[in-house]
Amino acid sequence: MKIKDVKFRGWPHILESQQFSKRWIKNVLFPLTDKMETLPRKVLRRLLRDKEMISLFVQESTRTRCSFQIAMNRLGGVVTFSTEAARKFSSLAKGESIEDMAIVLSEYGADTIVLRHDEEGGVAKAAAVSSIPIINAGDGPGQHPTQALLDRRTISKYFPDISGLEVALIGDIEGSRTIHSLAYLLSQYPGVVLHFVAPKSMGIKPGLKAHLDKHGVKYDRAKDIREVAGTTRVFYQSRTQTNLGTKKWNRRSKTNGLTVITEEVLQMMPEDAIILHPLPCTDEIDRTKVDPDPRAVYIQTKGGRISQVKCGLFVRMALLLIVIAPKLCVRLLTKKKFR
Ligand code: NCD
Repeated sequence: MKIKDVKFRGWPHILESQQFSKRWIKNVLFPLTDKMETLPRKVLRRLLRDKEMISLFVQESTRTRCSFQIAMNRLGGVVTFSTEAARKFSSLAKGESIEDMAIVLSEYGADTIVLRHDEEGGVAKAAAVSSIPIINAGDGPGQHPTQALLDRRTISKYFPDISGLEVALIGDIEGSRTIHSLAYLLSQYPGVVLHFVAPKSMGIKPGLKAHLDKHGVKYDRAKDIREVAGTTRVFYQSRTQTNLGTKKWNRRSKTNGLTVITEEVLQMMPEDAIILHPLPCTDEIDRTKVDPDPRAVYIQTKGGRISQVKCGLFVRMALLLIVIAPKLCVRLLTKKKFR
């Protein structure tokens, strides 16, 4: 293993799922994430000692913002500046461009910026001028690549071999950046079948559709989750992205079909299926019925079944190491005993 193996396409910036090959995921991301799960805390907190992270969120966030901050702290690094609602509380409010902001923040010599923007491509604009790694924590209705990587990790915990797996991407297939990123990421696994479950009026984004066609990915459309529930093993539910402009629709109607995970849907699912959701969850899962089911792994670790939320923290720790300290990653991955 060499430093070049640790680096992914477009390193050090994390902008979109297409940067990550399945080989890199298997040989670098997953083994490093294993280390994050198992190394003692006292070892972990030496790994990024004195390294600095800036967290800049133009849009609201709980999990992404918090898990990156915790991840950085766990590794002994510091979060030197953190702001949310950046359109209000940063100089963006005074009309400063995201490019100028990125240049200034990188001038201070921090080691990475975790950035959430409200426009598709907004994070890429910052990365184009930044001298330090920029991590896309969601760019409007564009992508959310670190979420896709943690989703991929969660899937692998339950399905070590994903060839032939049927995955239903349910809900706001047009506006959900987590669905876009996951679809791009899964498109490289032969045999994975994607079911896009949403009302007929809602389309798959043209760029994503072209990508799926080009790569010969098997995918189809269903308006009702019950059409695919019997054979789907990964149910990926999503919120209606009203904050990004999607109009709310009736998710339980004849015309639109059923896109809520109900008790009925639960009964139709295979025994070994899993239900994922990037969260926050509003009304698209009947929580009282679904939460107690062992297949519901989106929010809470139960009986040794690791949650998607928990997977997220470990994956983000690994990603921070990869962009800030690739040399150290080589040592972590090659030394039998790391002390
Ligand atoms: C998602 C997001 O912001 O795109 N949340 C997250 O980061 N886990 C999904 C959403 O807001 O619905």
